[in-house]
Amino acid sequence: MELRQDKTVYPYLSNNEWKKSSGGNTVQIKSPDDGRVVGEVPAMTQEEVDQAVKSTADVQANWEATEGHERSELLHRWADELEKMTDEIGEMIQAEVGKTLSSSKGEVKRTAQLIRHTAEEGLRTHGSFIQGDAFPGASKSTKAMVQKVPHGVVLAISPFNYPVNLAASKIAPALITGNTVVFKPATQGAISGLLMVKALVNAGLPSGVLNVVTGRGSVIGDFVVTHPNIDMITFTGGTSTGKHIAKQASMIPVVLELGGKDPAIVLEDADLDKSAKEIVSGALSYSGQRCTAIKRVMVNNNVADELVAKIKENVEKLTVGKSTEDANITPMIDQKSADFVVSLIEDAKKKGATVVSEGIQDGNLLGATILDHVTEDMDVAWQEQFGPVLPIMRVENELEAIDLERRNEYGLQASIFTKNLENAFTIADRLNVGTVQVNGKTSRGPDHFPFLGVKNSGQGVQGIGRSIDSMLRDKVLVLNL
Ligand code: NAP
Ligand code: G3H
Repeated sequence: MELRQDKTVYPYLSNNEWKKSSGGNTVQIKSPDDGRVVGEVPAMTQEEVDQAVKSTADVQANWEATEGHERSELLHRWADELEKMTDEIGEMIQAEVGKTLSSSKGEVKRTAQLIRHTAEEGLRTHGSFIQGDAFPGASKSTKAMVQKVPHGVVLAISPFNYPVNLAASKIAPALITGNTVVFKPATQGAISGLLMVKALVNAGLPSGVLNVVTGRGSVIGDFVVTHPNIDMITFTGGTSTGKHIAKQASMIPVVLELGGKDPAIVLEDADLDKSAKEIVSGALSYSGQRCTAIKRVMVNNNVADELVAKIKENVEKLTVGKSTEDANITPMIDQKSADFVVSLIEDAKKKGATVVSEGIQDGNLLGATILDHVTEDMDVAWQEQFGPVLPIMRVENELEAIDLERRNEYGLQASIFTKNLENAFTIADRLNVGTVQVNGKTSRGPDHFPFLGVKNSGQGVQGIGRSIDSMLRDKVLVLNL
């Protein structure tokens, strides 16, 4: 069977064959723009998921035995095939997750670049050699060869908001290092994920080296996570899902990239025009549905009025509408997520927040809402909104901002806006986050930089080089001469 629309049902990939689920059940994927059914993906049965994992494990030894340069060549061909499908995949990303077409196509292009960089970087992995004589009682005649070997079958679970990029950023490092992959795409975004896999098949993927499991995570998730043939898990998604997965998976490495509550800390000496521009773009791109979105502003009282006015000015330029209308703010992924954002806005208003800009509320389409004078008793001060609302907290000084950041449960990124680099470094040292951006919005790229969250924002490190590292373990061979 081909991967094509067949009464809108897209098959899953099993040993390089496109298959329908024997149970005949499917999950419908509806466009966030207008609720139309974009397509359906198989709700795979437990037996089919079991078979997918076992048949991936069956080819692990063969794949691991291939030469590194062959794996690298496969990834280069994958990037080429993906680029050829930019229009098709871009249109599907837009339909499934409601990103504008230019952002959707941009995601495909960024992914091709990421795969190529991974194909190159993966060639440079190497182990080490240790002489025994550094330790008392041992001598140079004892030598260790530390090799880097793959874990085995990697389970890659991706979120809806980058259905192609955050899937490939797991799959490519796994494959280049000789791991095989079971890929579980987010249901909303699964068709885009399947099209991305089609590009890999077109590139010459050997049968079984990557298999796909589709179906709701709440239904098949625990089964696949705890499957005895899974050797490593790499996950991006919500904190509660990630924590649940980490508890279920036992005795295998788990890399987690989770939620965030990234602050933008604006000091008295900041360039306020630049700060406002970066904050609005950082907070509201893709309607705030990014783990790295700026999710609260902490601004020095003395410049707060001016900054808020500039933020308002920038927000008023944004258009609100469907992704097909190329609007800046597009509908949220589903009604439940929109309802949650509205509940945060209502709670803050009830507790005295000032509404600087009020966004429209039309089903799952929410305009940008900017809330000033947000205080600690408001839920929006602490909870991850993952939507187009930006809380502004006024602070006396940087110590207050540092304290607010350190008391929050997340630790993904933070931005500091100031002209005083020495101050920026001092504050950065005291923030408990994975990355601090100075005079720029919080964001993941460039994709070869390490990317990580601490506290409830994650475990382990991604970014091309670090993702490759995470896919390998040491294997030690000791020579006793
Ligand atoms: P999610 O609901 O946690 O889903 C993520 C993935 O986990 C999906 O593929 C989902 O499948 C699957 N899943 C759900 N339950 C599972 C289970 N019991 N076992 C195994 N897999 C399971 O997250 P999302 O709504 O897609 O994304 C939004 C969240 O992700 C936000 O909190 C955001 O901050 C975070 N995020 C973090 C990063 C980062 O790099 N730090 C990047 C992007 C997003 P289904 O789709 O079938 O439910
Ligand atoms: O949603 C989480 C992504 O890792 C954010 O990536 O900063 O490139 O939008 P981004």
